[in-house]
Amino acid sequence: VTEARALTVVGTGIRCGVDLARDARAALADADDVFFIAADPISHAVMHKHRPDAVSLGSLYGQNVERQDTYARIVDRVLDAVRAGRRVCFAVPGHPAVFAQPTHEAIRRARAEGFEAVMLPALSAADHLYADLGVDPGAVGSASFDATDFIVHGRRADPTTALLLWQIGAIGETCEPSAVNRDGLRVLTEVLLEGYPPAHEVVVYEAARYAITDPVVSPVRLDELPSAPVSFYSTLYVPPASTPPLVPERLARLRLTTVPA
Ligand SMILES: C[S@@+](CC[C@H](N)C(=O)[O-])C[C@H]1O[C@@H](n2cnc3c(N)ncnc32)[C@H](O)[C@@H]1O
Repeated sequence: VTEARALTVVGTGIRCGVDLARDARAALADADDVFFIAADPISHAVMHKHRPDAVSLGSLYGQNVERQDTYARIVDRVLDAVRAGRRVCFAVPGHPAVFAQPTHEAIRRARAEGFEAVMLPALSAADHLYADLGVDPGAVGSASFDATDFIVHGRRADPTTALLLWQIGAIGETCEPSAVNRDGLRVLTEVLLEGYPPAHEVVVYEAARYAITDPVVSPVRLDELPSAPVSFYSTLYVPPASTPPLVPERLARLRLTTVPA
């Protein structure tokens, strides 16, 4: 089936090489052109082991380049090749649908122009987080936001569910930052303190990026988050602080006396 596709968007997962699924490997091998974004030099090298001719789009990012412009140029590069009749594979870290605007835009534009385009699922940082921190998003519910989005849209955390906040190292940044934005972390902390107690334990989490390394799990008090060890790979896990109240009328409507397991 892959032969017929004009565009296949794949995710390389989080653990370099190890997370790359079989269908993604096949898509990389079958494509005429491979474009990729790699999280670090080792991932870059691993991609070139699969496809020595793969073209990195990393140079389109820059500290003085608006991220939206970078995304537009990435999509243009991928679409130019599709329009030229090439069968293209576009690979990004993690799951290609998760916090990854250009992948969705490339698929949307390719389809709008009449090309067959498919996105393959992959392991995201959240998948690793659930396993490493023992979180079942179905047990208490869960919500996931980009940290900047969470702040600027005045979103309210529900302290009875799990909360995942992404991109906490680059809060409020429109270009690629050179260092973690500690002012942004302070603002995020203030916003979270509206819904959680200062001593609530949150976890700054970094999934293992290589088969031979361990995840970095840093539990901190919420009010100490601004000085916590945060990197550009960190995701914040905020566990629930309380249990949700039962609504007796709704239990009754389901003819229940207690919550089913
Ligand atoms: C642009 S998003 C890409 C997400 C990716 N597509 C995925 O499926 O996980 C970058 C954000 O993903 C999260 N992330 C990426 N690598 C991670 C890792 N090794 N551990 C934890 N979170 C990670 C962080 O929140 C980071 O700011």
